[in-house]
Amino acid sequence: MLEISDVGKVFGDPAAAAQAGLVHHALDGVDLTVGQHEIVSLVGTSGCGKSTLLRIASGLDLPTTGRVALDGRAVTGPTPEVGMVFQEPRLMPWLTVRENVRLALLDLPKAEQDARIAEAIEDVGLSKFIDAYPRQLSGGMAQRTAIARALVRQPSFLLLDEPFSALDSFTRQKLQQHLLALWERSRFTMVFVTHDVLEAVSLSDRILVMRGHPGRIHREIRVEIPRPRARTAPEVRALEEEIVAALDLS
Ligand SMILES: Nc1ncnc2c1ncn2[C@@H]1O[C@H](COP(=O)(O)OP(=O)(O)O)[C@@H](O)[C@H]1O
Ligand SMILES: [Mg+2]
Repeated sequence: MLEISDVGKVFGDPAAAAQAGLVHHALDGVDLTVGQHEIVSLVGTSGCGKSTLLRIASGLDLPTTGRVALDGRAVTGPTPEVGMVFQEPRLMPWLTVRENVRLALLDLPKAEQDARIAEAIEDVGLSKFIDAYPRQLSGGMAQRTAIARALVRQPSFLLLDEPFSALDSFTRQKLQQHLLALWERSRFTMVFVTHDVLEAVSLSDRILVMRGHPGRIHREIRVEIPRPRARTAPEVRALEEEIVAALDLS
């Protein structure tokens, strides 16, 4: 379980920067609990603090106020329990797919690394490209590599920050399906940031709409539609409209 309690985030040194107007209040009073095996999406317009919240949940950044706990333990920094995927694949261009995935395992014995890498790369359908370099991969394949790197330690939590936003819509839908298939097998608790409302409706058990500056959770919507969810189904479209209306698009 991921528990975020009354989290606020201010960027900049309040004492020094207030005069210069450099204090930036990015999040305020955010409470969020994500249950084991749950898929929660965060949607909201650009700048409302989605990435900041995800970085705080992962331990990559610390909140100014409030607390974050994973399975009851306070988060004070990055941990192998959490896998992260970003909008860009963040692969090292001079390393092959295999060696990029290995980066998540450097503290383990070599034989164990090799077995886990092969399995994780097979899971994302890239076995034939295990010795390819990033420049030889399509955008979708590069992002599959990033997903393999995030999942290779079999984390209990997978946090994704607009992971498919840079992909064409066909590739995006294939990767959404593939991610769901991986989730059905391993059941990691998932937090998915997207600004594609239909993507959120397709994937999630629950959708949180964030709004404002500083960002807050404005609304919570439970998605009761059984999976797989057809993008054209009337109940999917109706929910999409409801969420778009809840976003602050003015
Ligand atoms: N490192 C930082 N320093 C100062 N301001 C930041 C920093 N990171 C994010 N911000 C600001 O915090 C707000 C929220 O940013 P972000 O979490 O990236 O929003 P989102 O992911 O929803 O687009 C934005 O106004 C952004 O400019
Ligand atoms: Mg962002």
